[in-house]
Amino acid sequence: MTRKNFKQELQDEVFPIIAKSAADIGIDCYVIGGFVRDLMLHKKIPKDIDIVAVGSGIALAKKVAEAIPGKPKISVFKNFGTAMIRHKALELEFVGARTESYQADSRKPFVENGSLFEDQERRDFTINTMAISLNQENYGDLIDPFDGIKDLKQKLLKTPLEPNITYSDDPLRMMRAIRFATQLGFTIQDESLLAISSNRDRIKIVSKERIIDEFNKILLSPVPSVGIVLLHETGLLPLLFPELKALQGIEEIEGQRHKDNFWHTLEVVDNISKATDNLWLRWAALLHDIGKAPTKKFDKKVGWTFHGHEFVGSKMVYKLFRRLHLPLNEKMKFVQKMVRMSSRPIILAEDHITDSAIRRLVFDAGNHVEDLMTLCEADITTKNPRKQQRYKNNFKRVRNKIVEVEARDSLRNFQPPVSGEEIMKTFNLKPSREIGIIKEAIKEAILEGEIPNDHDKAFEYMLKKGEKLGLKVNPKR
Ligand code: CTP
Repeated sequence: MTRKNFKQELQDEVFPIIAKSAADIGIDCYVIGGFVRDLMLHKKIPKDIDIVAVGSGIALAKKVAEAIPGKPKISVFKNFGTAMIRHKALELEFVGARTESYQADSRKPFVENGSLFEDQERRDFTINTMAISLNQENYGDLIDPFDGIKDLKQKLLKTPLEPNITYSDDPLRMMRAIRFATQLGFTIQDESLLAISSNRDRIKIVSKERIIDEFNKILLSPVPSVGIVLLHETGLLPLLFPELKALQGIEEIEGQRHKDNFWHTLEVVDNISKATDNLWLRWAALLHDIGKAPTKKFDKKVGWTFHGHEFVGSKMVYKLFRRLHLPLNEKMKFVQKMVRMSSRPIILAEDHITDSAIRRLVFDAGNHVEDLMTLCEADITTKNPRKQQRYKNNFKRVRNKIVEVEARDSLRNFQPPVSGEEIMKTFNLKPSREIGIIKEAIKEAILEGEIPNDHDKAFEYMLKKGEKLGLKVNPKR
């Protein structure tokens, strides 16, 4: 038996304040949406609380803001008929109950005042339609006309109205369905899945930012491939990420096949998600092979090749980020760097591991060397247990060597031990090509292990190099 009253759970002091404010202005109001859903799921209660008022949400918000000690600021969004109050850690979102009819080419609804029921049936999924009353006569009662609680128990995502209406009303919900399925481990009802497929083109009217918001939540879920497979099955994937779709498929020439890089990528994303919550590292895993589609070639001697796919892939990252309005800042540069360097440790782990190769890896990857190793470890998807173990062991050795070389040479964020200024002073030089040559030679000598990363040894080396270049030491330096 499901409990019907949740007064006990309305612990926060704001609930009675909201209830009294609504009573004072003579309207009914309810907590609805994510708060109620997560409460029923016994999950951590979210910080944003949606309140629906049968009447003006803005008027209720104003009344509540006056009643809360300290009179917090209120943000009013007149066009949407909503208002928001930040109070302590909470974000209280007020909206008037509405019946909405959407226009064919826009997500902006025509809003008319409606009853609670009309508001509930215009929401996305039955599990999000559940409301808890804040009214005196039935304070704490669960109002659940679409039996969201049943779907919650069955882990089912179902729309309150005919799915075509719900998705066509607001196509962002197609992404939300897939996001909730991935985040909560729920199943999307078959009719709903079909409706997503047939309405997929309407995703075009949704802003890139909102799509990415949902996609990032998919990527941050415990097993992101669940959502990516759903995007694939509903046909949304090629509309959002044609680069990933292009990785799908296996070609065979002269009996030689390459692996399906799409399914491989999904494995890599799931693997990395066990090791890190870093969203951008997960993006790097998702995109690490996108350069493989445009660089794929068949060579009679060596079979399938993807020469330079890392470099091509890192260029594609920029285009993809720009198209999807992802940040074009250091986050993107990090993803590009991971994609560009994604094969480096693999080559290392296959070969004999030399100190100088490790030094170059640390030098090039800098502070991101551990992230790069995490990506490469996630990239091991061979089903051959012996090979898998061998690669893992090799990567472990690479990691140990990194620590060892680091302790000796501190190459991360490398600063030249002898500055350009010192070189100029020593040889009485004006800014010139020679300074670059000497600096590069010192760096190479350190990476090759000829000298340690140390000022005095580098200075000595500089004197020798200068002599070779025919430079004279300035006696007055
Ligand atoms: N909603 C909807 N259609 C949308 C977005 C939201 O019907 N496209 C409704 C749902 O009832 C939802 C509520 O508005 O529960 C609040 O939306 P939001 O805060 O975006 O999501 P939550 O459900 O709270 O979930 P989360 O916090 O995980 O995003």
